[in-house]
Amino acid sequence: MLFASPHASAKDLKNYMHQFLDMAADLADAGIEGSHPNWSKIDETVKKMKRCVSQMRSAVSTDTYRVYIDRLSGSLDQITAMSREHDLNVGKAYDHLSQSCMKCHSAHLTPGITFREP
Ligand code: HEC
Repeated sequence: MLFASPHASAKDLKNYMHQFLDMAADLADAGIEGSHPNWSKIDETVKKMKRCVSQMRSAVSTDTYRVYIDRLSGSLDQITAMSREHDLNVGKAYDHLSQSCMKCHSAHLTPGITFREP
């Protein structure tokens, strides 16, 4: 398409967002910020999120979102690595995940959408 509209992309992305919100809540339920995280539940949820990210990546038709999708994907990899080590600092990686959601939102005129207090 010659005049690719960023809004066409934004609409495509929107289909994934409620799933992301649910999965982010699942991570919180798995105790990712607590002292006894449920590691297998965390791994399972992060795998689902990774699948969702790759679907989202192929759904967007412009490069506009690429850097933000990479950031989101990087946060998920970080959680996977920390979960493997049963690293209790994984709550910090969850913070990064939250920020990677917000960075894309604030860059694309959807401020204030967050799954936790900044
Ligand atoms: C690559 C960019 C990008 C990333 C990363 C991203 N979002 Fe979004 N999100 C959007 C866009 C664009 C919209 C607005 C879509 C619209 O209304 O046009 C949106 C909207 C939303 C909405 C509102 C949906 C609605 O029906 O109005 C929620 C909830 C949401 N995002 C959650 C999340 C969560 C949770 C994460 C992180 C796990 C996340 N998003 C990461 C781009 C992104």
